[in-house]
Amino acid sequence: MKKKVLAALLSVAMVATLLAGCGSKEAPAEAPAETEAPAETEEPADADAEEPAESDAPAASGDFADKKVGVCIYQFSDNFMTLFRTELENYLISLGFAKENITIQDGQNDQGTQSNQIDAFINDKVDVLIINPVNSSSAETITDKVVGAGIPLVYINREPDESEEQRWADNNWDVTYVGCDARQSGTMQGEMIVDLGLEKVDLNGDGKVQYIMIEGDPENVDAKYRTEFSVKALTDAGWEVEQLDDQVGNWDQVKAQELVSNALGQHGEKIEVVFCNNDAMALGALQAIDTAGRKVGEDIFLVGVDALSEALENVINGTMTGTVFNDHISQSHSAADAAVNYLTGAGNEHYIGCDYVKVTTENAQEVLDSVK
Ligand code: BGC
Repeated sequence: MKKKVLAALLSVAMVATLLAGCGSKEAPAEAPAETEAPAETEEPADADAEEPAESDAPAASGDFADKKVGVCIYQFSDNFMTLFRTELENYLISLGFAKENITIQDGQNDQGTQSNQIDAFINDKVDVLIINPVNSSSAETITDKVVGAGIPLVYINREPDESEEQRWADNNWDVTYVGCDARQSGTMQGEMIVDLGLEKVDLNGDGKVQYIMIEGDPENVDAKYRTEFSVKALTDAGWEVEQLDDQVGNWDQVKAQELVSNALGQHGEKIEVVFCNNDAMALGALQAIDTAGRKVGEDIFLVGVDALSEALENVINGTMTGTVFNDHISQSHSAADAAVNYLTGAGNEHYIGCDYVKVTTENAQEVLDSVK
């Protein structure tokens, strides 16, 4: 699996893991230290060591060929979730699940549609459910239904709120969440801008950084935290900032292109930095930037999150300032491993974390090679 190839790359993240504790709910105060990565390393060590260790080997042995897995994805057309679900299915198969027993449903960004799909999975008596909720705020209802049916549940990508997670622990339910802490990705976005130096970023020399923010779905904690923490990294570095625009692009490339094009029309050269909560929107922003005749790295700076291949190509070419690797490989593997742990009775902690990785021109090729 691709995971081995990522070991060296993730060794940088390992430093953060050791500092912050992988899987802990603490906000990563620091991005991974920019130290020289050891040439060969194993998986990021788990400082908590309470959670089942991730590995390429099945989390437990056993015959899963007859086990039915139901997977709900909030929306198939989402680029990042497409990478996630593809890797999830392949990895489940590599663990011994039969392809015909893995059913993946498209929630079409509609909670009603997804709830019907969950009901159908329950009627079908699936052995385990992996759910990327359309609305994280529906988690309580979803959990009650699934737990009531006696089916273990692994939430992915869209984190339910703290009180909901607390219920799982209080009731000792077979329910967990697998995902990265979006505060870390926001911080990394901001740090990549700070690392360029104020002199370079403050193009108009007014002592402040003028930026626009293109947000994902505001209900989503990833969008909320990336919006907040990217800018916080600038102010934490002592930079003055001025927000010229803040718009909701709903994770969508076309929408972001339209929003950034409007913002460029309205604010023109005043815009120095474009923060996008994900790469799909950064790619849309780049189209608008190109059309406006602006040049990333020269008269504007642009960062995203996810490390989609197209974004990585842009980082390599200098047409995007940077992105943050949202490791769909380790997240999908952890989700599948968690499902296995429920099926074997080994169980899981109620939160299974992972680390983001900063991507600049320095390591973009390496990341691209590892995800190909
Ligand atoms: C990703 C986005 C994706 C969203 C879906 C985020 O973690 O960065 O690209 O659209 O998850 O929930």
